[in-house]
Order: sequence, then structure tokens, then C-alpha cells
Amino acid sequence: MRTAVLLLLMGIVDLSIGQRYSQFQWLSHLRGRRRHAGWQAADVDCPLECDCPSTYPTAMYCHSRHLQHVPYVPSHIKYVYLQRNQITGIQDGVFDNATSLIWVVLFHNQLNSDKIGKNVFSKLKNLDRLLLDHNELTRVPPNLPKGITDLRLGHNKISKILSNSFEGMANLTTLHLQANDLEDVGGVFKGLKSLTALDMRKNKLRKIPDNLPGRLQQLYLEFNNIESVPTDFLKTYRKLQFVRLAHNKLTDKGIPSSVFNISTLVELDLSFNKLERIPVVSRNLENLYLQANKIKEFSLGSFCSTADITNFSNLKMLRLDANQISAKDIPAEAAYCLRQVAFIDV
Ligand SMILES: *[C@@H]1O[C@H](CO)[C@@H](O)[C@H](O)[C@H]1NC(C)=O
Ligand SMILES: *[C@@H]1O[C@H](CO)[C@@H](O)[C@H](O)[C@H]1NC(C)=O
Ligand SMILES: *[C@@H]1O[C@H](CO)[C@@H](O)[C@H](O)[C@H]1NC(C)=O
Ligand SMILES: *[C@@H]1O[C@H](CO)[C@@H](O)[C@H](O)[C@H]1NC(C)=O
Repeated sequence: MRTAVLLLLMGIVDLSIGQRYSQFQWLSHLRGRRRHAGWQAADVDCPLECDCPSTYPTAMYCHSRHLQHVPYVPSHIKYVYLQRNQITGIQDGVFDNATSLIWVVLFHNQLNSDKIGKNVFSKLKNLDRLLLDHNELTRVPPNLPKGITDLRLGHNKISKILSNSFEGMANLTTLHLQANDLEDVGGVFKGLKSLTALDMRKNKLRKIPDNLPGRLQQLYLEFNNIESVPTDFLKTYRKLQFVRLAHNKLTDKGIPSSVFNISTLVELDLSFNKLERIPVVSRNLENLYLQANKIKEFSLGSFCSTADITNFSNLKMLRLDANQISAKDIPAEAAYCLRQVAFIDV
């Protein structure tokens, strides 16, 4: 019923003003108007552009409806869904009454950094997730609340991150920065004590970022221009379990011996690089991707000690296809060492 009313109102405005932008601006001025319409029992504080179902009294759904600005957010709302609209900017003050907000979902809009107020998010003390992927941001929004745990900025146009952008975000666990224009990020992640997942795929990084947080478990760096791995890389980050470096410019020269022989590592993706040798990996590693390199020999010693091949490897997935070796290059002893591997792709 409410949708019908909304369509009706939009129809009226369309006739009288005839312009989409004004239409929504006008609707927004009905902000907070309580609906006492005779046929509608609910008495909810909700902007007309959005739906606030009584079954989820703290959620406000405003996605996929051609919005060009953020509507008024009533103070009791905790979850606001604004994805898939045409929002280009957010003025300071828009969220000032909505201090209960826990999730703000704004992916797939046209947000432009120059049109985002300096303190748009700064008063949202309870904000936990801020989803801003697929926008046109060139900068990380300033003054983000320190308590955020999940921040998604993937698929934007960010080319530089200020050194204080993530300062004090001690609870941030997930940070998505994939598909941006980052070449170098300095040590911006240093203070992120709780960060466990960092996604920086599809940027222009020439090296692995310095000062990664000590709790990091998942590091995704595919599709960059990385040529080497620092010597003590994994010794410094003792919690890393998943390291993905596919589609980079790694050569044997850039991989110090034993750099990946670290017992915490579960998955290592080095596919689509220029490696000629199989790097030494830990017995605990379970998935190793090396396809589409230039590997010329199968070195069993990379997986198991040649002195004691009974102490076998835990490897379950090994991909070596699209290299310069074939099945006959794999020695028979490999069957002892790689007994957990179902089959080796060559
Ligand atoms: C916040 O609430 C106050 C009091 O209800 C109101 O006057 C003001 O316009 C609201 N601000 C916004 C940005 O909605
Ligand atoms: C991080 O979370 C803890 C526990 O929920 C909370 O006490 C603390 O204030 C949070 N830190 C920040 C910077 O918000
Ligand atoms: C890998 O590390 C283990 C444990 O630290 C060690 O025993 C083993 O010799 C190393 N492998 C190689 C080939 O260096
Ligand atoms: C296999 O190697 C690991 C790590 O070097 C060692 O702790 C373990 O005792 C060895 N197991 C056997 C059966 O030799």
C-alpha cells in the first residue's frame, strides 16, 4: 500500500516539476513526517523514499531507487541500506541525528571525495560496518569513527592514503582496498591491531606494504606489480595463513630461500608469475598454486626433507600446470612425500 502512495506522490511531483533531482529533494522534505493514514496502522518515522518494515524496526531500506542524496535517517535506525543509487555526495550533518547507526551500506553509488563533508561519519560512535565499494572515491573519507570493524573501499579511485587515515582504528578486522590506484601505501596499516584480512588486489603496488599488522591472517595482493618478497616477510607476520600473490612480477631472484617455509601458512598462491623454481614451503602448507610460471624442474626437497621423506607434507592441492614440466618429471618418491595430494595438475 505504501509503495502505491509513494508512486502516486512521485507521479504528482513528476508532473509538476518534471525533474528527477527536484523530485527527490522535495520528497526528502517530508522527512520524519509520521504517517497516520487511515488504512495504515503502523506509525513509523521513516522518509518516504525508504521502507522501514515493522518486522525490522531498526532497519531502513533505501536501496536501488535512483536516490541522488542520502535521505533523513531517524535516530532509532541502526542499519541503513543505500546501495545501488546515484548518490554523489554526503553533506556534513546528514547522519548527525542517527547516532545509533551500526551499519551504513553505500556500495554502488557515485560518491565523490570532494562532495563528502569532513565530519559526515565522525559522530557515529557505534558504527561497525561502512561499505563504500564501487564508488568514485579518490581518498579515504576523513575522521572515520575509531570503532569500525569492517571498512570496504574496494573498486574506487583511491591513489593515495594519508598516514593518519586509519589512526586509532584498533578494532578494524577487515579492510578492503581492492581495485584502486594505489602504488605505495607507506606504513598506514601499522596501528591496526585487530586487522585480520587485508585485500589489496588489483592495485599498482610495486612491493608488499611495510608494517603490516601482527594479527593479519589473510593477505590478498593479486594483480599488482610486485617483484619481490622481503627476506623476513613471514617471520615478521606470524599469524599469516593465506597469502595470495598471483598475477604479479615475481622471479626467483625476488624470493629469498625459505621465505615461505613458515608453519602457519595454509595457502600460498604464486600463480601467474615468472618463477623458475618451486620455492621451499612448510610441511603444514595445504594449498599451493604455481600454475602459469616458468618452472623447469620438480624439486621434491621444496616440500619434504630429502633426509626423511616419511615425514610427509600436508599439501592437498598442488597446481603446476602451464609450466615447463610434465608428469614424467615428477619422481616416484613424491608419492611418499605428497601423499595427501589427490592429484598434481601439470
Ligand atoms: C535532528 O533532530 C532535530 C530535533 O529533532 C531537528 O531539528 C534537526 O533538523 C535534525 N537534523 C537532521 C540533520 O535531520
Ligand atoms: C573496540 O572494542 C572494544 C570492545 O568492544 C571497546 O571497548 C573499545 O572501545 C573499542 N575501541 C574503539 C577504538 O572503539
Ligand atoms: C623448513 O622449516 C623447518 C622447520 O623450521 C625446518 O625443519 C626445515 O629444515 C626447513 N626446510 C628447508 C628446506 O629449509
Ligand atoms: C616431522 O618434522 C616436524 C617438523 O620439523 C617434527 O616436529 C616432527 O617430529 C617430524 N616427525 C617425524 C615423524 O619425524
